Amino acid sequence: MSLNAQTIASDLAAALSAIAGANTLDELKEVKSKFVGDKSAIAKANQGLGGLEPAQRAELGKVIGAARAEINQSFSERERILTEIRDAKVLLEERVDVTLPTHRVNRGGLHPLTILTHEISDLFVGLGYTVAEGPELESGWLNFDALNIPADHPARTMQDTFFIEPLESGLVMRTHTSPVQVRTMLDRKPPIYVICPGRTYRADELDATHTPVFNQVEGLVIDKGITMAHLKGTLDFFAAKMFGPEVTTRIRPSFFPFTEPSAEVDFFYKGRWVEWGGCGMVNPKVLQACGIDTDEYSGFAFGMGLERTLMVRHGIADMHDIVEGDVRFSRAFGTGHR
Ligand code: DAH
Repeated sequence: MSLNAQTIASDLAAALSAIAGANTLDELKEVKSKFVGDKSAIAKANQGLGGLEPAQRAELGKVIGAARAEINQSFSERERILTEIRDAKVLLEERVDVTLPTHRVNRGGLHPLTILTHEISDLFVGLGYTVAEGPELESGWLNFDALNIPADHPARTMQDTFFIEPLESGLVMRTHTSPVQVRTMLDRKPPIYVICPGRTYRADELDATHTPVFNQVEGLVIDKGITMAHLKGTLDFFAAKMFGPEVTTRIRPSFFPFTEPSAEVDFFYKGRWVEWGGCGMVNPKVLQACGIDTDEYSGFAFGMGLERTLMVRHGIADMHDIVEGDVRFSRAFGTGHR
């Protein structure tokens, strides 16, 4: 093909129209190799300059240079425009609407009482205690006799205890967590440091302050040289962790068949003494029933209600709220969405 100004002009025109006709960056890429790159007609024309007379070479060289500059400029301009269009499209198509409603599933959560149980367990595990558990359907011997509660004790009348039929089975729904003390002492050798949280049962009507199914936590320590001072210190620690660092306890003389001496424990909270539970030094009769040498070992025990602890700590006025399982109650404890 002869090299002259006319063919260069038509190469230029073809390249410019191809560039203008490219509608995407991909199309423009193809145009580049055909009309702009080293194999394009205009590049070949440039190579052909070498075979020309010097005068003609100088003249056509200028024309080709100008044409190539124009092609390059038009190419970059088209590339810039197509890149902008592509970017705008990507932004639009890949946009995420953060205001769209999500499929949030309520996965439920732990009941405040369960959370409190975990909290207390963690607390005592931190002191070196272990957590012991026992069955809610319990033998009358473990629930009463081994704890030195004689057959004529008021706690054994039909009024308080759920007895299981047939009555000869000797089974009851445990009325306290204290049988877990006995199970633990029968099971393990001292030293013993355990905390026993769990559900307990008494034949009470559900009202603002009572529930037939409630929770207790029992503490039991058996070791050499254990005194009431250890008991008091442990109760003070427990109360401070439950209700605030300034909260202390007092113990008042009382009676429980399984402790001697026995006491009621109160804590001082928001200007008044609040009853919390029972405690005492484990009665040697109970230790002996469990095969523990009372010359060598002594121990203390305590037991309190978890519902009461929760109600006082969180200002819950009505037991129904704890028992009924309405999530609007539990949610206030952060147990809604998890
Ligand atoms: N078991 C008692 C109750 O349910 C509470 C109690 C009192 C537990 C004194 C103890 C204790 O361990 O030493 O009323």
